Amino acid sequence: MTIVDSHLDVAAERSLADDVFDGLTRPFKELPPKHFYDARGSELFEAICAQPEYYPTRTELAILQERAGELMDGIDELVELGSGATTKARLLLEGGDSVSRYVPVDVSSSVVRAAALELADLDVDVHGVVADVERHLDRLPAPTGRRAVAFLGGTIGNFTPGSRRRFLRSVGKLLEPGDRLLLGTDLVKDPAIVEAAYDDAAGVTAQFNRNVLAVCNRELGADFDLDQFEHVAFFDRVHEWVEMRLRALTPQRVTIPALDGLVVDFAHREELRTEISAKFTRARIAADLAAAGLVLEELVTDPDEWFAVSVATVADADGTRFRR
Ligand code: SAH
Ligand code: AVI
Repeated sequence: MTIVDSHLDVAAERSLADDVFDGLTRPFKELPPKHFYDARGSELFEAICAQPEYYPTRTELAILQERAGELMDGIDELVELGSGATTKARLLLEGGDSVSRYVPVDVSSSVVRAAALELADLDVDVHGVVADVERHLDRLPAPTGRRAVAFLGGTIGNFTPGSRRRFLRSVGKLLEPGDRLLLGTDLVKDPAIVEAAYDDAAGVTAQFNRNVLAVCNRELGADFDLDQFEHVAFFDRVHEWVEMRLRALTPQRVTIPALDGLVVDFAHREELRTEISAKFTRARIAADLAAAGLVLEELVTDPDEWFAVSVATVADADGTRFRR
């Protein structure tokens, strides 16, 4: 059985116009990363995952491959937030022996719609939800049994530190005792490795970065000249996050008809921040989870400790928890 619910009404409901207005009229220009992901952006992200420099996907996949059985033990449904492609879901769904439903949740309607087709060979119902996980978690279908809520890929690192804990709190509300959160986080490592991952030699990440300007052009009628913005990625050692920015190569004037003809000027070399991607330590993961009322049960990592999948629960009255 396949169902797709949509809680987004194309661009407006994705809050693009509000975010562009807020983000481009402030002194340090910034756009939230969720607007990368139209159908083209989702395709480009998939292409990033295949780049040799982009280690997070293959590292997390190896962890899931090895531990899917335990992670999914006793679980009846998998809810995946920011689901993207179904590669990781397939591993988890095949790993569990009692899973009967998969609920992919994503702002990108193309990936949610593709999920059911891609998993048609598995004996699971797919109930896709096109929604913004920061605003619509209360609209997910009612649970059918013990739940695993997965938020993989390190996407939690794309939230600002403040919104990260608020978001984890709302995710905690999806869990009953006996359910579990599977949280993927990229870990702090040599900055050179991180910077290479966000500036691949083939230029795919650069295209992905500029795609947010293409989204503004299409959805808001803006006239960004994509060729006039260069991709910038650097590791901020103080915050322990990588930042992506777009730097104006020459002075730019951009007009945005959907925002009442708003005119936005960029000075020569002025930068627009398009993403942060935080890298974590075990202590930071535990602290973020605790602040959200969740208990870190286990942190599974790869031999190089480049990436971690954490298992978290809400403790029940008699302390029943995830067991290996
Ligand atoms: N989980 C996948 C995809 C990661 S890419 C993986 O591990 O490879 C990040 C995904 O989150 C994209 O598919 C994007 O569309 C989605 N996303 C980003 N912000 C979102 C939001 N606010 N609500 C729902 N989905 C979001
Ligand atoms: C989805 N997210 C975890 C990716 C990341 O690594 O922060 C998005 C991305 N940005 C550039 N490359 C990949």
